[in-house]
Amino acid sequence: MPEEAPTLPTDAIDLLPTREGYDRWAEIYDVDDNPLVALEEPWMDRLVGDVRGLTVADIGCGTGRHALRLAAAGANVQALDFSEAMLQRSKEKTGASQIVFHVHDLAKPLPFPDATFDRVVCGLVIDHISDLDGLFREMHRVCRSAGFVVISVMHPAMMLRGVQARFKDPVSGREIRPASCAHQLSDYIMAAVRAGFVLEHLSEQAVDEPLASRLPRARRYLGWPMLFLMRLTPRSKTNGLDVTSLPTIAPASTRSQVWPEESDGPEIG
Ligand SMILES: C[S@@+](CC[C@H](N)C(=O)[O-])C[C@H]1O[C@@H](n2cnc3c(N)ncnc32)[C@H](O)[C@@H]1O
Repeated sequence: MPEEAPTLPTDAIDLLPTREGYDRWAEIYDVDDNPLVALEEPWMDRLVGDVRGLTVADIGCGTGRHALRLAAAGANVQALDFSEAMLQRSKEKTGASQIVFHVHDLAKPLPFPDATFDRVVCGLVIDHISDLDGLFREMHRVCRSAGFVVISVMHPAMMLRGVQARFKDPVSGREIRPASCAHQLSDYIMAAVRAGFVLEHLSEQAVDEPLASRLPRARRYLGWPMLFLMRLTPRSKTNGLDVTSLPTIAPASTRSQVWPEESDGPEIG
């Protein structure tokens, strides 16, 4: 069994609203040796591919980790975040003058016309978004039909280890947790399907030995799924089925247990 994450007494943890939490995290976000970030970055590059000459949106850009690399690789990048402290860090970096930054709360519609972007990138953000349907619909709307969206998020299995987005405040030594949502994999997948995306790539990535050797904090999660990745293409019609018109299914607690008369129900066992 992997070693468990040390549990802090709850009075050593500060639960903050998401924006305030990231405003505080901004100062050390880039030097935090975060294993999730280290695991995610090469995957994002692989899934996004060559962006030379493309228009790219970085949704929840934080300190500009992806936005700056994308701009350096030749993309025209627009980057949004609601944490002014995180954005400020981005703007201070070399290459930031190539990027258009927006202060924007993702709970609201994206400030772009339909079909603006060839690529939409959203890294390590959606575990903070309560209205997944709203954000996935917006990413679908702003993505060109020949483009695609790449999303990364902390794997929900990390919640089973008591982990959510968090950092240790270097001044107080207290753990700070910007508010997160307890989404499951199916919540992410169904939000994508309901928005009209085709699931082109889904994968779950675990910490491996090279990462654990490089970042000792990662070792306790060796072999454990830490990262979930999606690449989505915005086609609303697949095989003649308009997925955007599928009926919404009620949450499990209120879902009907009665099968339609013409159906024998599922085979079990
Ligand atoms: C873990 S950081 C990831 C930053 C960057 N994408 C990266 O991968 O390094 C999550 C970011 O999402 C932003 N965020 C969370 N909820 C948001 C919202 N409702 N509107 C805008 N930004 C949000 C936070 O401010 C933070 O910068």
